[in-house]
Amino acid sequence: MFINFWYPAVESEKLEDQPLKRRMLGQDFVLWRDEKGRAQCLSNTCCHRGGSLGDGLVADSCVQCPYHGWRFNGDGQCVRVPSIGMKEKPPGRARVDSYPVTERYGLVFCFLGDLDESERPPILEIPEWGEEGWRSTCQYFEWEVDFKRAVENGIDPAHNEFVHDTHGMKGEDPNYKVSELDIRESEWGTGFYNEVYAPPLAERRMRETSKRDENHTITVGTGHHGPASVWTHINPTPVMKIYQYLYRLPIEETRTGLYMINMRNFMLEDIHDETMMERNQYVAFQDRDILLTLHPKTAPPTSARDLLTPSDYAVGRYRQWLMGWEARGWRNDMEKVRKAGEHTAFAIPSPARRRKKGWVIDPIPLLPATPARAVGTGQAA
Ligand code: FES
Ligand SMILES: [Fe+2]
Repeated sequence: MFINFWYPAVESEKLEDQPLKRRMLGQDFVLWRDEKGRAQCLSNTCCHRGGSLGDGLVADSCVQCPYHGWRFNGDGQCVRVPSIGMKEKPPGRARVDSYPVTERYGLVFCFLGDLDESERPPILEIPEWGEEGWRSTCQYFEWEVDFKRAVENGIDPAHNEFVHDTHGMKGEDPNYKVSELDIRESEWGTGFYNEVYAPPLAERRMRETSKRDENHTITVGTGHHGPASVWTHINPTPVMKIYQYLYRLPIEETRTGLYMINMRNFMLEDIHDETMMERNQYVAFQDRDILLTLHPKTAPPTSARDLLTPSDYAVGRYRQWLMGWEARGWRNDMEKVRKAGEHTAFAIPSPARRRKKGWVIDPIPLLPATPARAVGTGQAA
């Protein structure tokens, strides 16, 4: 799992003025809305004696630990220690990590890392969001899968013919071959466009509104952005567009949350949302069923332990990107984390760690940076 990226924690409408405990990158966090309605996110472990802040309450815009009532503001600073008397100032080290939060596309995103604002990789953008002639839906799925396996599935053009019957199972055809990939490199990932065989959809309404070409071949684009987000552009006809933005949350090594934002430029009335979401879920569950059976459960770090073919080009590139971010010192050392088990509390380092010393909770172990192999922030892989 990787620090220093924005991750989706919850739908904006579900975050209220009470603590919400959320597991992300194998660690616990607490989120809440303060008096001004701003979303806040702190590391969940209280620096006093390990209380779970997310199991406390919100008082005076702060989160209050359920154990001895210490209160922490949105900056992670403890502002009240009842045991020393209400007039006494809490010790300077009485603070926990606080993470940058922003709300976009109906989701609360947390920046889980210590980079300063100017260095942070951006959230995968939805250019169509809020534009006239577009409608969005959002669905959440959570499965026992490695987020990397899930991303690799999203950027793999060869599985469609076998996993999704919406593609007509043309993979068994003796003349079938994955069409050439038109590769698109961006600052934070690799994608491609290619021609895909996709026969008409079953839904009557979709049939009515679509005019497909004779051989039902459409152009599809997909790619990853950072370690856990994927974009997909589907044009069922030259004028119909289905653009999907998948924001994944690595919860544990083999548990992943997925916020799927689907943008469409047809069937704009809300009565069609259900149809779209049903269809998305149908396809998503087919991917899930495959992902649940993969072995090993986590994707190999390099392509030395499996056998890639030209259609796996983006998968190979994705693994190179991950190695590049690992080389920047952004990858959790899961072996050490696992070894520590429940006996050591860790926190994902927050931006304040770069300026302040004397943190009570240890930062999570990271694999050492190897700058010569690093990628990101404008550097090509
Ligand atoms: S453990 Fe949180 S206040 Fe004591
Ligand atoms: Fe799929």
